[in-house]
Amino acid sequence: MTTPASLGQIPNGVVNLDDHEAHARNRLDDNAWAYFSGGAADEITVRANRSAWDAISLQPRVLRAVAGGHTRIELLGRTLAHPVLLAPVAFQRMAHADGELATALAASALGAGLVLSTQSSVPMEAVAQAVLGDDGRGPLWFQLYLQQDRGLTRELVQRAENAGYEALVLTVDAPTHGARDRERRANFRLPAGVAAVHLNGASAPSNPPLQPGQSALFDQLLANAPTWADVAWLQTQTRLPILLKGILHPNDAREAVHMGLAGVVVSNHGGRTLDTAVATARVLPRIAEAVAGAVPVLVDGGIRRGTDVLKAVALGASAVLVGRPVVYALANAGAVGVAHVLRLLRDELEIAMALCGCATLAEVTTAVLYDHLERPNSHG
Ligand code: FNR
Ligand code: LAC
Repeated sequence: MTTPASLGQIPNGVVNLDDHEAHARNRLDDNAWAYFSGGAADEITVRANRSAWDAISLQPRVLRAVAGGHTRIELLGRTLAHPVLLAPVAFQRMAHADGELATALAASALGAGLVLSTQSSVPMEAVAQAVLGDDGRGPLWFQLYLQQDRGLTRELVQRAENAGYEALVLTVDAPTHGARDRERRANFRLPAGVAAVHLNGASAPSNPPLQPGQSALFDQLLANAPTWADVAWLQTQTRLPILLKGILHPNDAREAVHMGLAGVVVSNHGGRTLDTAVATARVLPRIAEAVAGAVPVLVDGGIRRGTDVLKAVALGASAVLVGRPVVYALANAGAVGVAHVLRLLRDELEIAMALCGCATLAEVTTAVLYDHLERPNSHG
């Protein structure tokens, strides 16, 4: 295991997650900035994710007893200190030399769950070794992309099991890259020394040459793209619980429950795949209704404030994931920066709960949402 190259320090004046983003703009070069901050096409979904949380108004209750309150939740058989996990984000060594290792140490220290990307730039074994001994850590999950080569997929699953990962998060909303205009404008390239270490050596599958009239997308890249049958196959390859990440339609959520999966993550990949896809805050209530408590529903996309976490829980989420702010904080101050982001979110969540008159997250229901009173039939 490597030791952190440098201990970071929170820059003066950085007091919230947006401050981390603004500061990180000056720490990252144009190449890394285009990759980390960009989304698909016109980035309408990137913005919609944020504005959808902002558009929900809270209607607090006063004079309620909140003594002894806490942010604990139960998730997949474990008690977590709070409902915030770090989303899988690829290539974190592009933000800081310590990369995913620093992120994992911060998550562990703050009791947050960590989802490590298939496209991690630090090997999954090193990440697991760094945190598995910490009793106070949150869950350690591995995000899986089904590879065209199913042998390689099986190998990744085996490695994750052996290393001590506790669940697989199967991402299903990105069979192809979105139309990433910002990356193309910046001519994005991985810098020397940063790689998807788990996929190194994986030769690009050789597909038959295109026939006239065939599509490079449908007939080559997606010729063997995963379907529900491959999810069923994956279930036979692992003893780990599997969550599906990238669910936006109630029927897909129902199918996941029907197949016996362990949970769903309502996500549009942070607006990086299909632009104009619906904002996660808007669709979350419908997914929660479809799942009807059968499995946990998690959500990500634009979560930047404790009040966003509270709203997500009110709309039926068990927990939330945070993506971009993690790499921004990593760029600003390494593990210390990531820990800072997690502490800010937890502190803000406690404040929001207290001011809404909720001592526990079980008490956070649609009753705290002003919206809900106006549209009584919408959910709950
Ligand atoms: C991602 N995301 C992602 N998801 C995934 O399943 N595997 C991955 O490797 C990545 N990589 C990745 C890289 C970068 C730079 C970003 C910004 C995002 C999506 C991520 O897990 C999450 O869904 C979103 O980032 C959540 O939205 P916010 O919090 O970034 O707004
Ligand atoms: C991305 C891929 C790695 O969003 O999921 O860049």
